[in-house]
Amino acid sequence: SEYLLSKKDFMNKKVLVTAGPTVENIDPVRFLSNRSSGRMGYELAREFANRGAEVTLISGPTNLRPPSIVKKIIRIESAEELREKVLEDFEDNDIIVMTAAVSDLRIKNYSEQKLKKDTIVNLEIEKNPDIIKELGRKKRVGQILVGFAAETENLKENAIKKLKEKKMDMIILNDVSRKDIGFEKEENEVTIFTSKEELRLEKNHKRIIANNICDFIFSTFF
Ligand code: CTP
Ligand code: CA
Repeated sequence: SEYLLSKKDFMNKKVLVTAGPTVENIDPVRFLSNRSSGRMGYELAREFANRGAEVTLISGPTNLRPPSIVKKIIRIESAEELREKVLEDFEDNDIIVMTAAVSDLRIKNYSEQKLKKDTIVNLEIEKNPDIIKELGRKKRVGQILVGFAAETENLKENAIKKLKEKKMDMIILNDVSRKDIGFEKEENEVTIFTSKEELRLEKNHKRIIANNICDFIFSTFF
């Protein structure tokens, strides 16, 4: 099979991948979320495992079937749950890939009762914690922290800013203004940045993009 044929260059490595959206509940029927399908993260988790890594996949709600080769899958809904699970697992891992589209906002007070439309405009919202930024502060020497950037303008500038401010080792830029790639699509086209390098990956299936990202990580950091 494909698994037997692939190179095992991530053997003995532990990799944590987060994927999918987070969902922030407002009341029993309403929520805040975003358009992430989870596909890019699932393909990355699959590819790392395929190449011999011990992978933990922490996933928000998606319609995807988890890759069978990934043995440890943790389900979360909110950003706060994601944060807890990531912090529990973080120390053990050599590579941490934050593919999850974390909801930037959450509701201050969840309502057990369904809110009425006349009062719902008074919702109090607040910012979610920045998980990868916290990891950037906590990471130890040798741990590789990989993030994504979802941008619609000033693509490179914004990506480099996130790379630096969150102390990532590498960032993968997604142009989310394009309708043919990225969110909810089968294909992607990305640019990878480290402090020294820039590499564009031409439009391709997310499985191939995941393969190229793994190649880049291996050749750059190991
Ligand atoms: N991220 C995170 N915690 C958050 C928000 C984002 O860990 N609360 C991570 C994402 O998983 C991604 C990276 O930060 O790897 C960049 O996410 P993005 O949404 O592009 O950037 P933000 O910092 O949220 O900035 P903005 O949405 O305002 O552009
Ligand atoms: Ca964001």
